[in-house]
Amino acid sequence: YEKSEVFFMQKTWYKEKVVYQVWPRSFCDGNGDGIGDLEGIYSKLDYIKSIGVDAIWFSPLFKSPNADYGYDIADYMDINPEYGDMDTFKKVLAGCHERGMRVFMDLVVNHTSTEHKWFKEACKSVDNPYHDYYIWRKGKGKNGKKPPNNWLSTFEGGAWEYVESVDEYYLHVFTKGQPDLNMDNPKVREEVKNIMKFWLDMGVDGFREDVITYISKREGLPNAIPIPVAAGMEHYNCGPHLYEYLKEFHDDVLSKYDCFTVGEGPLITPEKVLRFVTEGDTQVLKTMFSFDHLEADCFMTDWIKIPFNLKKMKKCYQKWYDAMNGKGWHTLYLENHDHPRIVDRYGSLKYRVESAKMLATMCYLQRGTIFIYQGQEIGMTNIELKSIDEFKDMITFNNQILFKKLHISDEKFIKMANRGSRENSRTPVQWNDGPYAGFSTVEPWFNLNPNYKEINVAAAEADENSILNYYRKLLKFRKENEVAIYGDFKQYYKNSKELFVYERNLDGVKLLVVASFTENAVDFKAPDGIDLSKGELVLTNYNDSALNGNGFKTKPYETRVYLFK
Ligand code: GLC
Ligand code: CA
Repeated sequence: YEKSEVFFMQKTWYKEKVVYQVWPRSFCDGNGDGIGDLEGIYSKLDYIKSIGVDAIWFSPLFKSPNADYGYDIADYMDINPEYGDMDTFKKVLAGCHERGMRVFMDLVVNHTSTEHKWFKEACKSVDNPYHDYYIWRKGKGKNGKKPPNNWLSTFEGGAWEYVESVDEYYLHVFTKGQPDLNMDNPKVREEVKNIMKFWLDMGVDGFREDVITYISKREGLPNAIPIPVAAGMEHYNCGPHLYEYLKEFHDDVLSKYDCFTVGEGPLITPEKVLRFVTEGDTQVLKTMFSFDHLEADCFMTDWIKIPFNLKKMKKCYQKWYDAMNGKGWHTLYLENHDHPRIVDRYGSLKYRVESAKMLATMCYLQRGTIFIYQGQEIGMTNIELKSIDEFKDMITFNNQILFKKLHISDEKFIKMANRGSRENSRTPVQWNDGPYAGFSTVEPWFNLNPNYKEINVAAAEADENSILNYYRKLLKFRKENEVAIYGDFKQYYKNSKELFVYERNLDGVKLLVVASFTENAVDFKAPDGIDLSKGELVLTNYNDSALNGNGFKTKPYETRVYLFK
């Protein structure tokens, strides 16, 4: 084979890593109160490592009243007592490092909790030094009883909340309990840098930066296009000073450490991302998450389902690869704490094991840093809650109000929530088939999926052909074959509605990935120039992998990976 056209930018540790996301409340309960915690996490470090993981990203572990389950932070430098204390955290950090795993914290600085001491001070008077840490405006209308503009929260009604003691409204783009910080105030930026330093100096290896694209609001906070939810976003997503602030964080702090950063921001486009991640002097983030590959079965939101459209998904992957190629580094993920489980969506519950393996293969053999969400590696599935009282998340409750206005019945709404809400990914991790799935010794804080009797880590460990053991093989293969990390990416049969076929090339080594997204038998013919009989079948989710000429008839959700050297 010709030497590939792979440029290349720098080979760096974080590009080769596999990150495992822990959403602490539902991971493992170490002290028997029904809530996941740090002792529970500590007890599972060997397990996490065994999957082939090199780093853990912890969703917020900080003190929080849980208006948004940790994404409302009351103290950035202390651990939520529900999860343990600083000593336990240090034990977990050391435990990760001993096992060769890095640790990334969630950095949530678009907003704090209303319980944060800055906010409590800010409410005392307009002259309080902390008042200007937040975004305050006088009310509108004759007697000032109307909110300052028409923005709506993404999570909870309007975006403004009145505080009598200062006779002003504060802005909250998320729940009422999450007042937005005023990043235009240099003191706030100093605080952010101190938070970063605090954790990096302790030995933490980087950050996942929560809704980081929201931190700069357009001057004057103009009225928004009146859409029913999150109105105003056009005035604060990727706002005027965003790059400048990220550059300041980078230059003053991050650049001084060998640390990783991954930014999160809704509706992000390659053009915007490149501004932040292009390698060289202007780089301010190592990488970012994109979202559109998770929108191939829904319209605008996970809640509004449309039939899964493979071509749509493939286009997203191609778009991001093309944009990033030779410039910056991307991320690969299928699940996180904000979306329903993937196997229910892009795979098939009937072929749960086969399709979960196929999905991991098609995603993780592309180019990017890998992220796996807790429970994904055993193929956990979505919930079947019966009543609205069982739900926990503000978004669900907000949507209930919105959908009521559209005359959607409660019954229909619960069905939608069971498929579309992010609560689907937040059920306790299923460790074994014992009481409470081995997650806890008491009733967990949130619904356990009753399928834990069959779907659990212990069962997966015992089964050579489990999804878990397939993840291990897949990740090991990627580690041992640079082509899977740095190789280029070229698709075949782009118009196929059933197959995702791509190759990767690096220095004369070729990888061919075939993934079927249907239970139907599809005639796959190897693309011109590829002789399957010359390749080594390195990964597959079936035992029988005979060839039929230079191709094969696919079995349900079959995947095969051939290596050519
Ligand atoms: C991010 C988080 C999400 C959280 C929101 C507000 O999107 O991933 O879980 O609710 O930001 O912090
Ligand atoms: Ca606990």
